Amino acid sequence: MTFDPIDLGSFWMPKQSSTIAEEIDTAYYIVYWLDVVMFVALMGALAYFLWKYKRRGPKDKLSDVTHSTTLEISWTIIPTILVIGLFFVGLKGWMKAMVAPGNSLEIRTTAEMYMWTFTYPNGNVSVNELVVPKGQPVKLIMSSKDVLHSFFVPEFRVKQDVVPGMYTTVWFEAIENRETVLFCTEYCGVGHSDMLAKVRVMEKADYDNWQETGLLPGEKPLPPAELGKKLFATRSCNTCHSLDGSRIQGPTFKGIFGRTEQMADGSSVKVDENYIRESLLEPNKKVVQGYPAVMPTYKGLLKETDIDALIAYLKTVQ
Ligand code: CUA
Repeated sequence: MTFDPIDLGSFWMPKQSSTIAEEIDTAYYIVYWLDVVMFVALMGALAYFLWKYKRRGPKDKLSDVTHSTTLEISWTIIPTILVIGLFFVGLKGWMKAMVAPGNSLEIRTTAEMYMWTFTYPNGNVSVNELVVPKGQPVKLIMSSKDVLHSFFVPEFRVKQDVVPGMYTTVWFEAIENRETVLFCTEYCGVGHSDMLAKVRVMEKADYDNWQETGLLPGEKPLPPAELGKKLFATRSCNTCHSLDGSRIQGPTFKGIFGRTEQMADGSSVKVDENYIRESLLEPNKKVVQGYPAVMPTYKGLLKETDIDALIAYLKTVQ
Protein backbone atom coordinates (compact mmCIF):
# COMPACT_ATOMS: atom_id res chain seq x y z
CA MET A 1 0.00 0.00 0.00
CA THR A 2 1.32 3.46 -0.75
CA PHE A 3 0.42 6.76 0.81
CA ASP A 4 1.24 10.35 0.34
CA PRO A 5 4.06 11.20 2.68
CA ILE A 6 3.07 12.74 5.95
CA ASP A 7 2.96 16.50 5.66
CA LEU A 8 5.84 17.80 7.76
CA GLY A 9 4.22 20.83 9.31
CA SER A 10 7.32 21.94 11.14
CA PHE A 11 10.94 20.91 11.56
CA TRP A 12 10.23 18.32 14.26
CA MET A 13 6.56 17.53 13.97
CA PRO A 14 4.03 16.46 11.35
CA LYS A 15 1.18 18.81 10.50
CA GLN A 16 -1.28 19.48 13.30
CA SER A 17 -4.56 17.97 12.08
CA SER A 18 -6.59 17.55 15.26
CA THR A 19 -7.86 19.86 17.99
CA ILE A 20 -5.45 18.38 20.53
CA ALA A 21 -2.31 18.49 18.39
CA GLU A 22 -1.33 22.07 19.19
CA GLU A 23 -1.52 21.55 22.94
CA ILE A 24 0.54 18.38 22.74
CA ASP A 25 3.19 20.13 20.67
CA THR A 26 3.25 23.05 23.10
CA ALA A 27 3.95 20.68 25.99
CA TYR A 28 6.68 19.06 23.91
CA TYR A 29 8.31 22.38 23.01
CA ILE A 30 8.23 23.61 26.63
CA VAL A 31 10.25 20.56 27.65
CA TYR A 32 12.42 20.87 24.57
CA TRP A 33 13.40 24.52 25.09
CA LEU A 34 13.87 24.01 28.81
CA ASP A 35 16.32 21.25 27.94
CA VAL A 36 18.13 23.45 25.45
CA VAL A 37 18.53 26.27 28.00
CA MET A 38 19.69 23.87 30.73
CA PHE A 39 22.12 22.10 28.42
CA VAL A 40 23.73 25.33 27.24
CA ALA A 41 23.90 26.73 30.80
CA LEU A 42 25.39 23.52 32.21
CA MET A 43 27.96 23.00 29.49
CA GLY A 44 28.82 26.71 29.52
CA ALA A 45 29.39 26.66 33.28
CA LEU A 46 31.42 23.47 32.95
CA ALA A 47 33.70 25.00 30.34
CA TYR A 48 34.03 28.24 32.30
CA PHE A 49 34.95 26.43 35.55
CA LEU A 50 37.47 24.25 33.74
CA TRP A 51 39.21 27.38 32.61
CA LYS A 52 38.74 29.48 35.73
CA TYR A 53 39.77 26.86 38.32
CA LYS A 54 42.54 25.13 36.41
CA ARG A 55 45.57 24.63 38.69
CA ARG A 56 48.17 26.80 37.13
CA GLY A 57 51.24 25.96 39.19
CA PRO A 58 52.56 24.59 42.46
CA LYS A 59 51.61 27.78 44.31
CA ASP A 60 47.89 27.54 43.37
CA LYS A 61 46.05 26.59 46.53
CA LEU A 62 42.74 24.76 46.90
CA SER A 63 39.84 26.96 47.94
CA ASP A 64 38.57 26.27 51.46
CA VAL A 65 34.91 26.94 50.59
CA THR A 66 32.97 23.86 51.70
CA HIS A 67 29.40 24.80 50.78
CA SER A 68 26.99 27.61 49.94
CA THR A 69 23.54 27.45 51.50
CA THR A 70 22.07 29.97 49.05
CA LEU A 71 23.32 27.99 46.09
CA GLU A 72 22.13 24.65 47.47
CA ILE A 73 18.65 25.96 48.27
CA SER A 74 18.28 27.58 44.85
CA TRP A 75 19.39 24.51 42.91
CA THR A 76 16.83 22.50 44.87
CA ILE A 77 13.90 24.91 44.73
CA ILE A 78 14.16 26.13 41.12
CA PRO A 79 14.18 22.69 39.45
CA THR A 80 11.41 21.51 41.82
CA ILE A 81 9.19 24.39 40.71
CA LEU A 82 10.00 23.70 37.05
CA VAL A 83 9.18 20.00 37.37
CA ILE A 84 5.90 20.68 39.20
CA GLY A 85 5.03 23.16 36.42
CA LEU A 86 5.75 20.49 33.77
CA PHE A 87 3.53 18.04 35.66
CA PHE A 88 0.56 20.39 35.39
CA VAL A 89 1.21 21.12 31.72
CA GLY A 90 1.20 17.34 31.09
CA LEU A 91 -1.78 16.65 33.33
CA LYS A 92 -3.96 19.22 31.60
CA GLY A 93 -3.28 17.78 28.14
CA TRP A 94 -3.53 14.21 29.34
CA MET A 95 -6.96 14.76 30.92
CA LYS A 96 -8.20 16.34 27.71
CA ALA A 97 -6.81 13.43 25.68
CA MET A 98 -8.30 10.76 27.94
CA VAL A 99 -11.91 11.94 28.20
CA ALA A 100 -13.93 11.91 24.97
CA PRO A 101 -16.67 14.55 24.67
CA GLY A 102 -20.17 13.21 25.21
CA ASN A 103 -21.29 13.92 21.63
CA SER A 104 -18.55 11.76 20.10
CA LEU A 105 -19.22 9.60 17.07
CA GLU A 106 -18.38 6.07 18.21
CA ILE A 107 -16.58 3.82 15.76
CA ARG A 108 -15.79 0.23 16.70
CA THR A 109 -12.24 -0.57 15.69
CA THR A 110 -10.74 -4.03 15.38
CA ALA A 111 -7.08 -4.78 14.79
CA GLU A 112 -5.77 -8.13 13.64
CA MET A 113 -2.72 -9.44 11.83
CA TYR A 114 -2.45 -7.34 9.59
CA MET A 115 -5.43 -5.14 9.03
CA TRP A 116 -7.77 -2.60 10.59
CA THR A 117 -11.55 -2.92 10.50
CA PHE A 118 -13.88 -0.03 11.34
CA THR A 119 -17.57 -0.54 12.09
CA TYR A 120 -19.70 2.61 12.00
CA PRO A 121 -22.84 3.26 14.07
CA ASN A 122 -25.16 2.32 11.16
CA GLY A 123 -23.42 -1.05 10.69
CA ASN A 124 -21.27 -0.02 7.71
CA VAL A 125 -17.80 -1.48 7.69
CA SER A 126 -14.57 -0.23 6.17
CA VAL A 127 -11.25 -2.03 6.07
CA ASN A 128 -7.89 -0.24 6.23
CA GLU A 129 -9.63 3.04 5.72
CA LEU A 130 -11.03 5.18 8.50
CA VAL A 131 -13.48 7.80 7.29
CA VAL A 132 -14.44 10.59 9.67
CA PRO A 133 -16.29 13.89 9.45
CA LYS A 134 -14.40 17.12 10.08
CA GLY A 135 -15.14 19.10 13.23
CA GLN A 136 -16.79 16.29 15.11
CA PRO A 137 -15.25 14.39 18.03
CA VAL A 138 -14.71 10.74 17.12
CA LYS A 139 -14.24 8.05 19.74
CA LEU A 140 -12.76 4.72 18.71
CA ILE A 141 -13.61 1.70 20.82
CA MET A 142 -10.83 -0.70 19.98
CA SER A 143 -9.90 -4.32 20.51
CA SER A 144 -7.62 -6.87 18.93
CA LYS A 145 -8.51 -10.30 17.55
CA ASP A 146 -5.07 -11.76 18.15
CA VAL A 147 -1.97 -10.00 19.51
CA LEU A 148 -1.04 -6.54 20.74
CA HIS A 149 -1.33 -3.82 18.12
CA SER A 150 -1.24 -0.07 18.58
CA PHE A 151 -3.24 2.71 16.94
CA PHE A 152 -1.17 5.73 15.94
CA VAL A 153 -2.09 8.73 13.79
CA PRO A 154 0.91 11.10 13.93
CA GLU A 155 -1.00 14.08 12.52
CA PHE A 156 -3.66 13.71 15.22
CA ARG A 157 -1.05 13.15 17.98
CA VAL A 158 -2.98 10.16 19.32
CA LYS A 159 -1.60 6.74 20.13
CA GLN A 160 -3.18 3.88 22.02
CA ASP A 161 -2.46 0.18 22.45
CA VAL A 162 -5.04 -2.22 21.01
CA VAL A 163 -5.24 -5.29 23.18
CA PRO A 164 -6.91 -8.72 22.81
CA GLY A 165 -9.62 -9.48 25.38
CA MET A 166 -10.35 -5.88 26.41
CA TYR A 167 -11.44 -2.52 25.00
CA THR A 168 -9.25 0.54 24.85
CA THR A 169 -10.41 3.89 23.55
CA VAL A 170 -8.95 6.90 21.85
CA TRP A 171 -10.63 10.09 20.66
CA PHE A 172 -9.79 12.97 18.34
CA GLU A 173 -11.45 15.77 16.43
CA ALA A 174 -10.04 16.37 12.96
CA ILE A 175 -9.75 20.00 11.90
CA GLU A 176 -8.95 19.76 8.19
CA ASN A 177 -10.31 17.89 5.16
CA ARG A 178 -7.37 15.73 4.19
CA GLU A 179 -5.94 12.25 4.01
CA THR A 180 -3.41 11.05 6.46
CA VAL A 181 -1.95 7.76 7.58
CA LEU A 182 -2.63 5.48 10.51
CA PHE A 183 0.16 3.17 11.66
CA CYS A 184 0.25 0.07 13.76
CA THR A 185 3.00 1.02 16.15
CA GLU A 186 3.46 -2.17 18.15
CA TYR A 187 5.54 -4.91 16.55
CA CYS A 188 2.95 -7.62 15.89
CA GLY A 189 4.53 -10.02 13.39
CA VAL A 190 6.01 -10.24 9.92
CA GLY A 191 3.29 -8.06 8.36
CA HIS A 192 3.61 -5.31 10.98
CA SER A 193 5.17 -2.75 8.67
CA ASP A 194 2.32 -3.26 6.19
CA MET A 195 -0.33 -2.70 8.82
CA LEU A 196 -1.23 0.78 7.64
CA ALA A 197 -4.55 2.38 7.03
CA LYS A 198 -5.71 5.56 5.42
CA VAL A 199 -7.57 8.18 7.43
CA ARG A 200 -9.92 10.35 5.38
CA VAL A 201 -11.36 13.48 6.87
CA MET A 202 -14.27 15.04 4.99
CA GLU A 203 -17.17 17.45 5.40
CA LYS A 204 -20.11 16.07 7.34
CA ALA A 205 -22.31 16.04 4.21
CA ASP A 206 -19.68 14.08 2.25
CA TYR A 207 -19.28 11.71 5.18
CA ASP A 208 -23.03 11.08 5.26
CA ASN A 209 -23.00 10.48 1.51
CA TRP A 210 -20.13 8.02 1.85
CA GLN A 211 -22.04 6.15 4.55
CA GLU A 212 -25.04 6.02 2.24
CA THR A 213 -23.40 5.13 -1.07
CA GLY A 214 -19.77 4.20 -0.39
CA LEU A 215 -18.72 6.94 -2.80
CA LEU A 216 -16.13 9.55 -1.96
CA PRO A 217 -16.65 13.20 -2.93
CA GLY A 218 -16.55 13.51 -6.74
CA GLU A 219 -16.43 9.74 -7.21
CA LYS A 220 -18.63 7.84 -9.64
CA PRO A 221 -19.52 4.14 -9.34
CA LEU A 222 -16.70 2.00 -10.83
CA PRO A 223 -17.08 -0.89 -13.28
CA PRO A 224 -16.77 -4.22 -11.38
CA ALA A 225 -13.23 -5.15 -12.46
CA GLU A 226 -11.91 -1.69 -11.52
CA LEU A 227 -13.71 -1.74 -8.21
CA GLY A 228 -12.20 -5.20 -7.63
CA LYS A 229 -8.73 -3.87 -8.37
CA LYS A 230 -9.24 -1.12 -5.83
CA LEU A 231 -10.55 -3.56 -3.22
CA PHE A 232 -7.58 -5.85 -3.83
CA ALA A 233 -5.24 -3.02 -2.90
CA THR A 234 -7.26 -1.51 -0.05
CA ARG A 235 -8.49 -4.64 1.69
CA SER A 236 -5.03 -6.07 2.33
CA CYS A 237 -5.35 -8.91 -0.22
CA ASN A 238 -1.98 -7.77 -1.59
CA THR A 239 -0.28 -8.40 1.75
CA CYS A 240 -0.56 -12.17 1.18
CA HIS A 241 -1.27 -12.70 -2.53
CA SER A 242 1.04 -11.57 -5.31
CA LEU A 243 0.04 -10.76 -8.88
CA ASP A 244 3.34 -11.69 -10.51
CA GLY A 245 3.56 -15.39 -9.62
CA SER A 246 5.82 -14.94 -6.61
CA ARG A 247 4.99 -16.79 -3.41
CA ILE A 248 4.13 -14.69 -0.34
CA GLN A 249 1.95 -15.99 2.48
CA GLY A 250 -0.81 -17.20 0.19
CA PRO A 251 -1.00 -18.51 -3.39
CA THR A 252 -0.33 -16.00 -6.15
CA PHE A 253 -3.27 -14.60 -8.08
CA LYS A 254 -1.42 -14.69 -11.39
CA GLY A 255 -3.66 -16.68 -13.72
CA ILE A 256 -5.82 -17.74 -10.78
CA PHE A 257 -9.15 -17.95 -12.56
CA GLY A 258 -9.73 -21.35 -14.12
CA ARG A 259 -6.57 -22.82 -12.57
CA THR A 260 -6.84 -26.23 -10.94
CA GLU A 261 -5.42 -26.20 -7.41
CA GLN A 262 -4.41 -29.15 -5.25
CA MET A 263 -6.03 -28.84 -1.80
CA ALA A 264 -4.47 -29.71 1.55
CA ASP A 265 -6.91 -32.63 1.94
CA GLY A 266 -5.77 -34.16 -1.34
CA SER A 267 -8.78 -33.11 -3.44
CA SER A 268 -8.47 -30.73 -6.33
CA VAL A 269 -10.53 -27.66 -7.11
CA LYS A 270 -10.97 -25.66 -10.27
CA VAL A 271 -10.97 -21.98 -9.34
CA ASP A 272 -14.31 -20.54 -10.42
CA GLU A 273 -16.75 -17.90 -9.13
CA ASN A 274 -18.05 -20.12 -6.36
CA TYR A 275 -14.61 -21.13 -5.10
CA ILE A 276 -13.48 -17.49 -4.90
CA ARG A 277 -16.67 -16.54 -3.12
CA GLU A 278 -16.32 -19.40 -0.65
CA SER A 279 -12.64 -18.58 -0.07
CA LEU A 280 -13.54 -15.00 0.83
CA LEU A 281 -16.30 -15.99 3.25
CA GLU A 282 -14.93 -19.28 4.62
CA PRO A 283 -11.25 -19.09 3.70
CA ASN A 284 -10.10 -22.12 5.65
CA LYS A 285 -12.62 -24.59 4.26
CA LYS A 286 -10.57 -25.48 1.18
CA VAL A 287 -6.93 -24.53 1.62
CA VAL A 288 -4.39 -24.90 -1.15
CA GLN A 289 -1.77 -27.53 -0.42
CA GLY A 290 1.47 -26.20 1.03
CA TYR A 291 -0.01 -22.99 2.44
CA PRO A 292 -0.98 -22.25 6.05
CA ALA A 293 -4.70 -21.81 6.85
CA VAL A 294 -4.30 -18.25 8.12
CA MET A 295 -6.56 -16.12 5.95
CA PRO A 296 -9.13 -14.11 7.94
CA THR A 297 -12.76 -14.30 6.84
CA TYR A 298 -14.24 -11.37 4.95
CA LYS A 299 -17.78 -12.30 5.98
CA GLY A 300 -19.61 -9.08 6.83
CA LEU A 301 -16.69 -7.01 5.50
CA LEU A 302 -17.55 -7.28 1.81
CA LYS A 303 -20.86 -6.44 0.21
CA GLU A 304 -22.22 -8.76 -2.49
CA THR A 305 -21.22 -6.18 -5.08
CA ASP A 306 -17.68 -6.18 -3.65
CA ILE A 307 -17.43 -9.97 -4.01
CA ASP A 308 -18.68 -9.72 -7.61
CA ALA A 309 -16.10 -7.02 -8.25
CA LEU A 310 -13.22 -9.07 -6.83
CA ILE A 311 -14.22 -12.05 -8.97
CA ALA A 312 -14.39 -9.81 -12.06
CA TYR A 313 -10.94 -8.43 -11.25
CA LEU A 314 -9.34 -11.84 -10.62
CA LYS A 315 -10.51 -12.93 -14.08
CA THR A 316 -8.38 -10.15 -15.52
CA VAL A 317 -5.18 -11.08 -13.62
CA GLN A 318 -3.25 -13.16 -16.14
CU1 CUA B 1 -0.25 -4.65 14.20
CU2 CUA B 1 2.03 -4.04 14.30
